[in-house]
Amino acid sequence: MLPILKTKHQPTLIIANGENAAAGRGITKQIAKEMFDMGIHGITLGNHTWDQKEIFDFIDDERRMVRPANFPEGTPGYGWTTIKANGKELVIINLQGRTFLPPLDCPFQTVDHILANLDHKDRYILVDFHAEATSEKISMGWHLDGKVTAMVGTHTHVQSHDERILPQGTAYITDVGMVGPRDGVLGMERQAVLQRFKTSLPVRFVVDEGKWHFHAVLIDVDEQTAVARNIQLIRLFEDEFIMS
Ligand SMILES: [Fe+2]
Repeated sequence: MLPILKTKHQPTLIIANGENAAAGRGITKQIAKEMFDMGIHGITLGNHTWDQKEIFDFIDDERRMVRPANFPEGTPGYGWTTIKANGKELVIINLQGRTFLPPLDCPFQTVDHILANLDHKDRYILVDFHAEATSEKISMGWHLDGKVTAMVGTHTHVQSHDERILPQGTAYITDVGMVGPRDGVLGMERQAVLQRFKTSLPVRFVVDEGKWHFHAVLIDVDEQTAVARNIQLIRLFEDEFIMS
């Protein structure tokens, strides 16, 4: 869908979450390359960052990819980076929530520390807050309002319908959704997930092969003020395209 969306919207920068890109578990160097070759400029990750062992062979060398910044100090990879493309620069920061997810450093203190150390010329900032609980994500939105250009949530795979520009000019959505099979459970084949829920026995999950859906948001930024002007949902289905 990216060529169609690029023609329609002509985005300056494209950022994707890639933590489930390797058949639902982590990301490989080859898949990251394919994503960059498609025209994606930066990749964020999350709680599945380490699912593919080979991540440790390339994460320190790939400056266009970020894992949650609030992992313990000394963790491989980078928590934030500057993406340069089409004559613009965008700082991307990845954070992970702590509600219903493994304990980590405080994401609020972590992002404050990163923002305090950014250069004044870093005007465009995108935060991917990879978290489960809507309350934690909404709280982070309020915490970041006026401090960053956009806060986009990931991890639930379910696109929320609360996209808005917060009062101080930060574009916000609780969860951007997913790209992948629509008729499974969060992308996995549904029979296996149902069996897990019904029996509590260990079950091997595989990626569903049914029809896909594609979720994203398009964020328009005022170049004079670096304030977000608009955030628009993109929802595409294999059988019918719906663009709101
Ligand atoms: Fe996740």
